[in-house]
Amino acid sequence: MIHLEALSKTYAHSGTKAVDGLSLDIRDGEIFGFLGPNGAGKTTTIKMLSGVLRPDEGRVAIDGIDMAQKPLEAKARFGYVGDNPELFTRLKAREFLNFIADMYRVPDDARCERIASLAGRFEIADALASPIGSFSRGMKQKLCLVASLVHDPANWILDEPMVGLDPQAAFTLKELMRSRAASGRCVFFSTHVMEVAERLCDRIAVITKGRVVFVGTLDELRDRRSSGGDESLERLFLDLVEDASGGRV
Ligand SMILES: Nc1ncnc2c1ncn2[C@@H]1O[C@H](COP(=O)(O)OP(=O)(O)O)[C@@H](O)[C@H]1O
Ligand SMILES: [Mg+2]
Repeated sequence: MIHLEALSKTYAHSGTKAVDGLSLDIRDGEIFGFLGPNGAGKTTTIKMLSGVLRPDEGRVAIDGIDMAQKPLEAKARFGYVGDNPELFTRLKAREFLNFIADMYRVPDDARCERIASLAGRFEIADALASPIGSFSRGMKQKLCLVASLVHDPANWILDEPMVGLDPQAAFTLKELMRSRAASGRCVFFSTHVMEVAERLCDRIAVITKGRVVFVGTLDELRDRRSSGGDESLERLFLDLVEDASGGRV
């Protein structure tokens, strides 16, 4: 369960207001897609939500725990995969996973079982003894995904997680997202790929220029936007973003 309340962030260097009064509630048991064009403010929002960036205004709570007041408790409640899988290149993959498991105080039995299962599913089990520096970008991405689930968190937060994955890994990821939501956990991910959202999400939010312009199910989006025809989500999305930018009415 993720609560974002009136979040705003301006980058000091550029003066860009990347996120502008953004509020959202993501429930347990749902896959929630965070959609928007490049530069819409998705990554900035996710960094505030995961405690990487401090909001200028507004508040974040994970499972009701306030990120500003109890950051360690809040952070223990989610797994996070950022948009850039840069890792400690000199560590071996297994050392990195153990380091993460230590941070979250995951008992030995549970970590061994989870690492074996997840590394197997993402087909990196044979590479766990190798230094991360020798990994391809896709392998690093898979390792980040495994690391984010080592403590079996109630909330899974992913920034553009399909980017750089091969089709098999993308399929595995989608299966994991579905099974976690089905077991009552919360999955929140950003994407600019409409087909992914269309197949996967229970609800979506569309953002542009740091503001939410739609929240709801895909059917609600179709009902609201459709002029009767069977429009694709991609068309609806492009119309919504254009309208919000004042491009077309
Ligand atoms: N570190 C930064 N410094 C200055 N401006 C930034 C920085 N990161 C992002 N921005 C700006 O903030 C806006 C939102 O970016 P971002 O959150 O990365 O969007 P998205 O993930 O939706 O593509 C953009 O205008 C981008 O140029
Ligand atoms: Mg981004």
